Amino acid sequence: MSRHSSLEFREDIRKMPYRTAQIRLVASHPEVYEPCDDSFLLVDALLSDQANLLHHQPRVCVEVGCGSGYVITSLALILGKQESGGVYYMATDINPHAVSVARETLNAHGIDADLVITDVASGLDKRLEKLVDVMVVNPPYVPTPEEEVGCDGITASWAGGEDGRSVIDKILPVADKLLSDRGWLYMVTLTANNPSEICLQMRRKGYASRIVLQRSTEDGQGSMIGSLLSQFPRFPFLTHGDSKKN
Ligand SMILES: C[S@@+](CC[C@H](N)C(=O)[O-])C[C@H]1O[C@@H](n2cnc3c(N)ncnc32)[C@H](O)[C@@H]1O
Repeated sequence: MSRHSSLEFREDIRKMPYRTAQIRLVASHPEVYEPCDDSFLLVDALLSDQANLLHHQPRVCVEVGCGSGYVITSLALILGKQESGGVYYMATDINPHAVSVARETLNAHGIDADLVITDVASGLDKRLEKLVDVMVVNPPYVPTPEEEVGCDGITASWAGGEDGRSVIDKILPVADKLLSDRGWLYMVTLTANNPSEICLQMRRKGYASRIVLQRSTEDGQGSMIGSLLSQFPRFPFLTHGDSKKN
């Protein structure tokens, strides 16, 4: 996971024919993840799914691990003003500096969102249970020694533990708890994270999945995959028998 050294977004992001093009990083902090290739992949995936998202008319959108706020701000701009009324946005991050930077990014773009410093969505489960229509996550997915996971500051941005799955595996059950019956989870994964196993695991809980966007990583070691896991009707045969296995 490489980091951008400048506050400028990629040229093609600036050329995007939508309001996302106007997103500016108005604040930064050395311990906060600057938008990078994986952030761009996620926003590009959301953009490519914009028609579906608009049709979906989400009421509650949540980002876990918001970093600079680039993704949640983009999502809000992609959704624009919904005909059905307002959308409630919430974003979390374990890093307090990230929450401060994200607040400035959101404010600068006129987006109202609740920001919470917490581990994944801890403490929010009751408030958001089965209410979230869209969840977006660019998790720390790089395979690292387990002790680096959840470290203070910038290390928490990429440190994913064994197979890069430690934080992802914490997020999946939370997503299952928070997503509404029509909820969608957009998440970036790396080939090393075994995304097919993630999809299989979520299928057992009643989710369909599809890859929205896939790109090779800079080091050529694999690919970043922006995938969508969406709720589909929870057929009894999928929830019962299989839930015992999980
Ligand atoms: C790869 S960065 C992505 C930042 C931003 N969403 C983006 O795409 O540019 C991962 C973010 O997740 C946060 N994070 C790591 N572990 C977390 C956890 N257990 N709970 C909440 N946030 C976490 C990090 O602090 C970091 O801001």
